[in-house]
Amino acid sequence: MKRKLRIFRYDPETNTGGSFQTFELEAAEGMTVLDALHKCKEEQDGTLTFRWSCRSFICGSCAMTINGRNGLACKTQLSDLRGTIRIEPLAGMHVIKDLVVDWEPSLAAYRSITPHLIADDDPPEKERIQLPEARRRYDAAATCILCFACTSSCPVGWTAQNYLGPAALTKVARFVEDDRDTATDHRLQMIADENGVWRCRTAFRCSDSCPKDIDTTGTILRLRRRVAAPALRRNE
Ligand code: F3S
Repeated sequence: MKRKLRIFRYDPETNTGGSFQTFELEAAEGMTVLDALHKCKEEQDGTLTFRWSCRSFICGSCAMTINGRNGLACKTQLSDLRGTIRIEPLAGMHVIKDLVVDWEPSLAAYRSITPHLIADDDPPEKERIQLPEARRRYDAAATCILCFACTSSCPVGWTAQNYLGPAALTKVARFVEDDRDTATDHRLQMIADENGVWRCRTAFRCSDSCPKDIDTTGTILRLRRRVAAPALRRNE
């Protein structure tokens, strides 16, 4: 079956593009958007540039906007998309070339939340034991693959450059809910300002765009309750 793809093109060396190029290809059964991009590159235009790595929805590299919705190209089946397929780089991010965006601001937000376990007791001889029910508290947040589909879809982040964004906040939740982590108070203080949980406007777009089905909006709301809890207790 023939399929048409309208793909965003931009070449920083010549500063040309910023427009869409149409590709037409024979789509095989089971073909994903990432497979289609490879086919376009191999058979029609070798300059087409996109990021990819694992092909298994694990690395998050191939996040892009497909028919107006953020997702992973390796997870999206052509057969699930109707008509001409429009493929664009993630919104709200600086485009480096074609479908490749600059993740550095999002990675900087991620690094700023100290994205590793902090434990102030002495490490045990073996690993730190955790009960399955305690692990389940942050199961969802731990599945985040840092594709930044959520951060890109957040309308607040498009204008508020310093907003931590849903990806970084989800990572905060991952450690706040981990009973082995002893830095909960510090983490909650870190997100208690105008660039943290209070900047979120509950737009829900982050949850809608997560390819791992994480309820990022609910995660942020739960963090808010944790941040507000001491003040609420004082007012009781
Ligand atoms: Fe943005 Fe998600 Fe909040 S889209 S405004 S972080 S609910």
